[in-house]
Amino acid sequence: MTNDQKKPWGSRFAEKTDRTVESFTASIAFDKRLYGYDIEGSIAHCRMLAKQSIISEDDASQIVEGIGRIGRDIERGNFEFDESLEDIHMNIEARLTAEVGRVAERLHTARSRNDQVVLDVRMYLRDEVAIILTRLTGLRQVLVDLARRYIDIIMPGYTHLQRAQPVLFSHHLMAYYEMFKRDRARLKEALKRINVMPLGSAALAGTTYPIDAEYTAELLEFPELSANSVDAVSSRDFIMEFLAAASICMVHMSRLSEELILWSSAEFGFVEIPDAFATGSSIMPQKKNPDVPELVRGRAGRVFGNLMALLTMMKGLPLSYNRDMQEDKEPLFDTVDTLKRCLEVYEKFLPRLKVNETAMEKAASRGFLNATDMADYLVTRGMAFRDAHRCVGKVVRYGVDQNKELQELSLHDLKKFSQIFEEDIFEILTLEQIVNRRVSAGGTAKESVVKAIDKAQETLKLEVVEVESLKRKTSR
Ligand code: ARG
Repeated sequence: MTNDQKKPWGSRFAEKTDRTVESFTASIAFDKRLYGYDIEGSIAHCRMLAKQSIISEDDASQIVEGIGRIGRDIERGNFEFDESLEDIHMNIEARLTAEVGRVAERLHTARSRNDQVVLDVRMYLRDEVAIILTRLTGLRQVLVDLARRYIDIIMPGYTHLQRAQPVLFSHHLMAYYEMFKRDRARLKEALKRINVMPLGSAALAGTTYPIDAEYTAELLEFPELSANSVDAVSSRDFIMEFLAAASICMVHMSRLSEELILWSSAEFGFVEIPDAFATGSSIMPQKKNPDVPELVRGRAGRVFGNLMALLTMMKGLPLSYNRDMQEDKEPLFDTVDTLKRCLEVYEKFLPRLKVNETAMEKAASRGFLNATDMADYLVTRGMAFRDAHRCVGKVVRYGVDQNKELQELSLHDLKKFSQIFEEDIFEILTLEQIVNRRVSAGGTAKESVVKAIDKAQETLKLEVVEVESLKRKTSR
């Protein structure tokens, strides 16, 4: 039999498919990565058909055995993917027919590629999300470890990229911990809507066979069945939701990258990129470039693009399945690969970062970062905040003219601006005091940050346990 005759719809057509059309419509080059899920789904479907006496036990065991063999062949590289067989589903089915003969043709009873493909993608994505959840736990553990290691380092905090107020470097790191914590929660939430079993929807309307979809779902460990067959084959919002959550996570990765790039410049000098994670220049011998964070920042663009691609591809489609939807896979796969790799590289890279404590603290002590605290001092001693702001504004201008920081002015100088100032102002102006007096909830005081770190560590411990159970559930 030629492959043209092998096509499931061959009998309806008088002409062979044009070669150009074959290669234009084929998805096998990228959807072959779904093979394991396609096989697992087929095995479950086949068992269900036999249990319901829709096919015989004997046929079912031949199919299950044959298809298992195909899985092992693909793993070993003993499988030639054929473009004329369009996609992974038809490639496997054709091989099954070659292996076990006509019984293979019973497998597709009560099923369509429309529900089959969405099953495969759902199974694939829930496994990948489980891996990404693990990596987000790993990355946050690294941040917590760094925060603990550098708990006493003070850096300038910025607004508008202008030095604003001193904060603990740990506090700044823990801000990323919080962002990635929400990213993980978003993905975990998305997992609920990914984990839905669509088989039985068939082409779009359901099936006339007495199937037991709940049994298939149980075999494949899906907690839920799709509620509407048209929706089941029409919808890809579970992918959009993942791509959106991944995009938000990449925003966070990209901002972290941007800071590392800035901080490793000579102008900041706050961190040094370890040699093993940097690259040089082909022309300038002195250069050490932060290519890893630059590429993470750059790859955010393609992840956002993948979300846009899917939203745009779907927005005009009438229900139910349309072939356009084959275009969901490459953006999805690319986002999964990109996000996983970015998380992986940062988990290795961040612990190796060299932190320049002196540069950070020096930057934090120049630029009047203690001006707010001077104003607060006056307020605590009776002045209205607006008056205090005006008064300290004058002190700052005086300091700028004298080329002196607030802590370098004398009490005599300060008294010229307000009689309220006493010797104890200088204690208030030290970096340690500025940081440690900020005990408000979520503030940068060391005691608050230590608490945040301890709490984070508890959360991470629970997540490690949770991830283990997720893995057992989803990886077969
Ligand atoms: N390769 C197709 C896809 O990815 C599988 C479903 C094809 N269904 C169809 N009716 N042509 O969407």
